[in-house]
Order: sequence, then C-alpha cells, then structure tokens
Amino acid sequence: MRKYLVAGNWKMNGSNAANAGLVDGILAAQPGSDNVELLVCPPFPYLAAVAAQLAGSTVALGAQTVSEHEKGAFTGETAASMLVDTGCRYVLVGHSERRALYGESSDQVAAKFAAALAAGLKPVLCVGETLEEREAGQTEAVIDEQLGAVLESSGVEAFQRAVIAYEPVWAIGTGKTATPEQAQDVHRHIRSRMAARDEATANAVQILYGGSVKGDNAAGLFGMADIDGGLIGGASLKAPDFIAIAEAAASLS
Ligand code: 13P
Repeated sequence: MRKYLVAGNWKMNGSNAANAGLVDGILAAQPGSDNVELLVCPPFPYLAAVAAQLAGSTVALGAQTVSEHEKGAFTGETAASMLVDTGCRYVLVGHSERRALYGESSDQVAAKFAAALAAGLKPVLCVGETLEEREAGQTEAVIDEQLGAVLESSGVEAFQRAVIAYEPVWAIGTGKTATPEQAQDVHRHIRSRMAARDEATANAVQILYGGSVKGDNAAGLFGMADIDGGLIGGASLKAPDFIAIAEAAASLS
C-alpha cells in the first residue's frame, strides 16, 4: 500500500526567524501517522539551518531545483551531491514556475531528474497543463510529453525511487483547485501510462496533487484512488495550515 506524502514547497518565501517558527510548529504537532510522510522544501540558503532543526525527526528535507551538471563552472547553480551533503533527501524537478519563468525544457528536466537520482536524491517530478492547454483538450498530451521525456531517458524503473506531482498550472496560487474528479482523471492517466511499461512500478509510485490544496479540500482530493498526497505552496507556510493537510491524509490512512 502506498503511503501519503504531504510536501511543502515554500518557494521564495521565509527568513531564518520565520522558518524556525514554522518548523517548530510542524514538529510540535507530531503530525500524521505511520502512513503519512512529511517533506519541506525551503529556499537554498536555509537548507542547512532547517536540516539542523529537523535532525532526529521524521520530517524530510528537500530542495526546489537542482543543476543537471555534476560540478564545475556553473555560476549560481547547485549540484545534487551538495544537496545530499546538506541533508536533503528529495528535490523538486520541473516545477511549472521553473518551466515557465526559467525556460526549463522537458529534456533539461529529465537531465535534472537523472542527476538527482544519480546522487541518491528522490526527485519529485512536477507535471501539469496550463488553462489554455486544458481548454484545447491537450491535458493528456502535455502530461505525456513531460513524463515521456523522463521515461525515455531514465526508464520506468527509476520511478521506484521518485515521486510524481501533478500540478495544473491554472490551480497554482489561484485558489482554484481542480475537483477531486478532475485531478483523479489525470492521476489515473499518469498511472496507466506507467503501467503500460511496468505494472509494479506504476502501483508503487506516489502521485501527488498540487494547486491550491488547503485543509478543507485535502481530504476530498486525497480520498481519490490515485492521489497519494499533496505538493503544497501557500498553505505550507503556516504550520497550522500545513498540519491540517497532514491530518486530512492521516484521517484517510
Ligand atoms: P499553491 O498551493 O500555493 O497553489 O502552490 C502549489 C504549488 O505550486 C506547489 O508546488
């Protein structure tokens, strides 16, 4: 049986003081159950401090992106090995903000995914369509292209050590959540695409939903057959909001 994963993507938010309070709040709540894993993804400068605060807890640490290169003359970039060295177990790759604002192509995302895996990190591969693409009936084609690039380069078995996050771009930060049925349709499609290559991997891989997840809509989403948790933006910045989402997952376990 798949566990739930509730992951906070803090994006470019926080400060040493704010992060310390947020992590304190998460740890104090002793959230979840054996069936709910928690992950926080702070901005790069705060990874070491958050790692120290999380030491000895079951809450995992992740970064928000990673270089596809191993090391060398790549000013401003961060290697996967450095993230491991700093205490990260996960890294987001291909978040729609990276694709849209920083021009990351699906091939580049696939290279980042491979670099993360090679260093021993668990990549969280983000996929999702824009509103325009959805309205043009292209949702599945967009997902297939984004997922296909990684399946072609790393192979389906790589997903035994990875997570997928479906984040419809039109639901991110808009307060406009996909309905549980809309999300489930895409999650089922993703899992069936994986199953066509390898049934066992398809059944084991966690597929998260992201896009305006809150305490009051989480249970409806997480109750769907192929939704294994959430990638949370805004609601991951306040401990009570994040914990409410973790508790929604725990209540279903
Ligand atoms: P919101 O939860 O703020 O919509 O953000 C979702 C997201 O992009 C998480 O990666």
